[in-house]
Amino acid sequence: MHPTQRLLEAPYTCASCVRRIATASIVRNGRPAPVQALRSLENPRHDSTTSRPFTRPPRRFTTPARLTRNAYSTAAASRKGLRVAVIGSGPAGFYTAYRLINKIHDAVIDMYEQLPVPYGLVRFGVAPDHPDVKKCQDTFEELALSPRFNYIGNVRVGHDVALSQLKPHYDAILFSYGASEDRKLGIPGEDLPGVFSAREFVGWYNGLPQFQGLQPQLQAGEQAVVIGQGNVALDVVRMLLTPVDTLKSTDITEQAIQTLSESKVRSVRVVGRRGPLQAAFTVKEARELMHIPSVAFEPIDRTLYPPEIKKLPRIQKRIGEVLLKGTPDTPQDSPKSWALDFLKAPKSMAAPSGHLSSITFTKQQFAPDADPFDHSARVVPTDEEVTMDTSLAFRSVGYKSTALPGLMELGVPFDSKLGIIPNDVHGRIITPSSGPGNLTAGHVHGLYCAGWVKRGPTGVIASTMNDAFSSADIIAQDWAAGVPFLNDVHGVSESTGLGWDGVKEGVMSKGVRPLSWADWKIIDKAERARGKEKGKEREKFPSVEEMLSVLDA
Ligand SMILES: Cc1cc2nc3c(=O)[nH]c(=O)nc-3n(C[C@H](O)[C@H](O)[C@H](O)COP(=O)(O)OP(=O)(O)OC[C@H]3O[C@@H](n4cnc5c(N)ncnc54)[C@H](O)[C@@H]3O)c2cc1C
Ligand SMILES: NC(=O)c1ccc[n+]([C@@H]2O[C@H](COP(=O)([O-])OP(=O)(O)OC[C@H]3O[C@@H](n4cnc5c(N)ncnc54)[C@H](OP(=O)(O)O)[C@@H]3O)[C@@H](O)[C@H]2O)c1
Repeated sequence: MHPTQRLLEAPYTCASCVRRIATASIVRNGRPAPVQALRSLENPRHDSTTSRPFTRPPRRFTTPARLTRNAYSTAAASRKGLRVAVIGSGPAGFYTAYRLINKIHDAVIDMYEQLPVPYGLVRFGVAPDHPDVKKCQDTFEELALSPRFNYIGNVRVGHDVALSQLKPHYDAILFSYGASEDRKLGIPGEDLPGVFSAREFVGWYNGLPQFQGLQPQLQAGEQAVVIGQGNVALDVVRMLLTPVDTLKSTDITEQAIQTLSESKVRSVRVVGRRGPLQAAFTVKEARELMHIPSVAFEPIDRTLYPPEIKKLPRIQKRIGEVLLKGTPDTPQDSPKSWALDFLKAPKSMAAPSGHLSSITFTKQQFAPDADPFDHSARVVPTDEEVTMDTSLAFRSVGYKSTALPGLMELGVPFDSKLGIIPNDVHGRIITPSSGPGNLTAGHVHGLYCAGWVKRGPTGVIASTMNDAFSSADIIAQDWAAGVPFLNDVHGVSESTGLGWDGVKEGVMSKGVRPLSWADWKIIDKAERARGKEKGKEREKFPSVEEMLSVLDA
């Protein structure tokens, strides 16, 4: 259960509607069903789901309209339209904006992105050999062409512009800024040379400017260890073991191709603290690894599965079939291999000569009251330890969201224990009254969230889309119901309604260079041209400076 689920004393909620829309959403190739198709699934009698656009009951405004058209503010100004600031241009931000623009016909969205380039983890997380997953960008691109959508790239909210500076100019702020840190193991040695977080490594091969200086030491030895058994861990294994020729035509960076082609890594062990039935990766990703040419899988211990795997729940059964079938070749007669190790919790990492040389794990066993074949089975430590020699390790135990500077001033205490902005599950930001992890409902007017910062760092793009749609629906429902939004005082909106036009002067006076969608398209075109020369889809610019310099060329 979502940690905040039990708490909602929903003052304006129609939970059943939200749930139904979320589950009814159809996803094809990362694209939502056309708006018409979605509408046909919705209940025409109910405000939160009606196919008619929402209009808000008339409100009085205290300042005259002053919206103008310019490179960033292409919207037709309507003082009575909903003006929303979206923070973050990943799937959560884009899908919420997509839904809102379709639902509220005079809503205007300003999307703030800290990088010059959009799409969040679709660009900097999804593995380069999964181009189909990135097709959701076509939908985002469609949205960006709307005159009611403004992209404001290269502006980091909380740094380049304070939340308190945004607030006076909007009716609502949607927080969809994802999870930009990683979880740590909390064991001695995890920051030693030779130990990398999967987030850094993924960012590095995908061209995230922050990690272009990473230098993962793939020549240090033949063995690598990945700690954690989620899909990110399997992405890391695939990138380490896939023949470089297969990757060359993807949008992986040239630097990564060069480093991977010099890699000495021959064997990767993926270590989990629980058993195979509790692993977090999915069947498709496991199967993909079984099909890499010349890469063998070390057979797993059959006793970790029940005698009849047919009786397992479908997901565990399918994963079990793939793992137990393994690969035709064994590690002994293959140039490269990978293995899954279970029931081992990392204890410490050692580097007697200054560089990682081994990792010690505490062996685990299933708790006496746990069913080892149950997906949520608990484990407990034993007295035994095991040490693995390796000069290269990746921590892949999940991402982590952090508080945006200035959240508290808006009355929003970030829940650092859960790594989320406290919310009512549907997307309304609420104030916990009894401290982090112990929430009670109380909507902070006009503030909403979506995506990983709303529900924690799990879920694929399709689930993020459904989540974003439910946030958009709740904003639309609140707007239609006439509940207070940001800057509403006794039923009077004191918002300037200016959006970005009210903010940009302050941002630019700090020397920040905001980018419009047209600017991004110039960068996009230049990246594609660089890629074409090398026979690949695109060659990303490795630094923000190089991205910006394209605009001056
Ligand atoms: C390595 C990896 C691989 C994945 N592969 C797949 C896959 O193959 N298939 C799949 O379906 N799902 C995949 N996922 C999951 C998918 O990427 C997520 O579900 C989705 O991206 C979450 O969306 P989000 O918008 O919440 O966050 P994000 O995608 O992280 O977007 C957040 C955005 O906010 C911006 N931002 C952050 N702080 C600020 C700020 N202060 N001001 C302005 N902007 C800010 C960030 O730059 C970013 O653009 C993968 C995830 C990871 C980590
Ligand atoms: N191809 C794709 O579709 C794709 C690709 C990449 C990512 N994604 C999605 O992105 C999301 C994030 O993926 P993720 O792999 O980062 O996270 P994840 O799915 O949450 O997996 C994290 C793994 O780390 C383990 N772990 C956590 N803390 C640990 C600790 N202290 N010591 C040892 N192990 C620990 C977890 O084990 P426990 O279960 O025991 O806690 C789990 O195996 C997921 O929803 C994933 O499906 C999808």
